[in-house]
Amino acid sequence: MERRFGALSVQETAMTDDLVALRRETEMALAEADDLRALEAVRVRMLGKGGRLTSLLKQLGTLPAEERRKQGAALNSLKEEISALIEARKQVLEAAELNARLAQERFDITLPPRPQPQGFIHPITRTIEEMVAIFGAMGFEVAEGPDIETDWHNFSALNIPEHHPARTEHDTFYLPGKRDGRPLVLRTHTSTVQIITMLSRNPPFRIIAPGRAYRADHDATHSPMFHQCEGLVIDRNITLAHLKGCLVDFLRAFFSLPELAVRFRASYFPFTEPSMEVDIGWDRASGKLGQGSDWLEILGSGMVHPRVLANCGLDPREWQGFAFGMGVERLTMLKHGITDLRNFFESDIRWLRHYGANPLSPAILHEGI
Ligand code: DAH
Repeated sequence: MERRFGALSVQETAMTDDLVALRRETEMALAEADDLRALEAVRVRMLGKGGRLTSLLKQLGTLPAEERRKQGAALNSLKEEISALIEARKQVLEAAELNARLAQERFDITLPPRPQPQGFIHPITRTIEEMVAIFGAMGFEVAEGPDIETDWHNFSALNIPEHHPARTEHDTFYLPGKRDGRPLVLRTHTSTVQIITMLSRNPPFRIIAPGRAYRADHDATHSPMFHQCEGLVIDRNITLAHLKGCLVDFLRAFFSLPELAVRFRASYFPFTEPSMEVDIGWDRASGKLGQGSDWLEILGSGMVHPRVLANCGLDPREWQGFAFGMGVERLTMLKHGITDLRNFFESDIRWLRHYGANPLSPAILHEGI
């Protein structure tokens, strides 16, 4: 079969004198176009809707068939050629424009800084950074979980029984809808991340999980949204001694009191056995930490309950560990002498300026927290 639009011979695509002239004219116009705007004008003049080449293409229909084929091929190859020339010129001009701008935008790095309005790190964020720095030095990783959890993660998996008061609507924000057929709650503690971690990775591990928690409470020392930091260590030979050493070291580093007295007091949590409340020494009258002979309760802890391990698919005869949980606002209030928890969330700029931390000096353990 004859190929009508196949490879055309040189002679067939040969341009008429008109087209050669048009190409030369374009080349000259391009050479003269010394910025992108002038270049665009050339493009429009040749290839735009009413452009020279476009008009010639439009006229093709009026030519007899044989001529139309030849002229069509010639016009199309000229069009491609011109497009390529424009593109090449465009790159040259763009590079020139960029270079000109870069030369102009040179700035003097030896100038002293101009005073800038200084922002502050919110004290809650700062405390979390300090916790991450201290536990990080002990080999802990940061783990996370969602604020919206199933009641299984928040209660059942943590061995909190059906009749436990924490489960009542009075204390817990329940949400409409379900996940995996289970009712949803705003997590009432960060202990949910214990479950998430044990289900999703293989021990041994050491994690802390700072984050938000929610309870239906509101007064000078309680907010419906607050922050906790959970800790979990799972390994083969973990004992109460590890728990004690870890928390004593943490508290002394966090409060920058190397001699801080720390007391472990038997207590009860459904998810640990044995469970302990941790107290630090302070002077109630003056509010000074590390002095006097009074005790202040500061966090909860214990050895992970075998049933919690089993709920997460870990064999309690092989794996054991300890867990702890503390209130971020509470620790921040004690460290900085803040008396009303509501201040944290009122966004009073004077308060933030006073208690906020310098963003340019991050929490670094060996520099003192
Ligand atoms: N989840 C507890 C609370 O919100 C705090 C807590 C106590 C966490 C003991 C623990 C723990 O991991 O072992 O009051």
